[in-house]
Amino acid sequence: MTDVTAIRACVFDAYGTLLNVHAPVARHAARLGSGAQMLSQTWRTKQLEYSWVRALSDRYRDFWALTEQALDYAMALHGVADPALRQDLLDAYRQLDAYPEVPDTLEALRAAGLTVAILSNGSPAMLSSAVRAADIESLLDATISVDELQIYKPHPRVYALAARRLGFTAEQIGFVSSNAWDVFGAHSFGFRTFWVNRTRQPAEYLAPERLDVIDDLAALPSRLGIA
Ligand code: LAC
Repeated sequence: MTDVTAIRACVFDAYGTLLNVHAPVARHAARLGSGAQMLSQTWRTKQLEYSWVRALSDRYRDFWALTEQALDYAMALHGVADPALRQDLLDAYRQLDAYPEVPDTLEALRAAGLTVAILSNGSPAMLSSAVRAADIESLLDATISVDELQIYKPHPRVYALAARRLGFTAEQIGFVSSNAWDVFGAHSFGFRTFWVNRTRQPAEYLAPERLDVIDDLAALPSRLGIA
């Protein structure tokens, strides 16, 4: 179990952690038929793959461009040729639903005096639009994008940016992500980490005893000893 005594700030991954990346396809599922879920998975997997390949090859393009490219690939792979649907899915991606427990969790953390922030691979424009649409803007002290570094998580420079921007040491930051690879990067950097495992995926990247797992964000305040 993570030692939480030093934690002064909670930093959240955005996509998949606070925001449901499968909401756009779910919203338009009737137009996609039986392959809808597969298409959504391909879209997400390719979006992430593109970010890592771009980072490793030193050919940064912002996350919105990669989100568009990943959707184009997913639609091609699944045989969907529908420009209007493409536009509707992208519009929905700019306005993702937050998971239902998000507002109460963020409020509880702030009420306990913790600094609350997002650290995301998302571009500043897509993040500000998503945060506004999810109505959580007023619950965040900062929304930090990798864009100014032109590199992607899990590069350590990204986690260093959050610590620097928020003015805390690594061990004062509790980092929360549903992406195991992101938890690994943050943990390696020195953050206290929590893995949100909503869909009961097997443990990966870190030995199970180093993974502090929560089922959803509602479990976080008590894990931090504030509820
Ligand atoms: C984020 C994506 C990658 O950084 O989940 O928000």
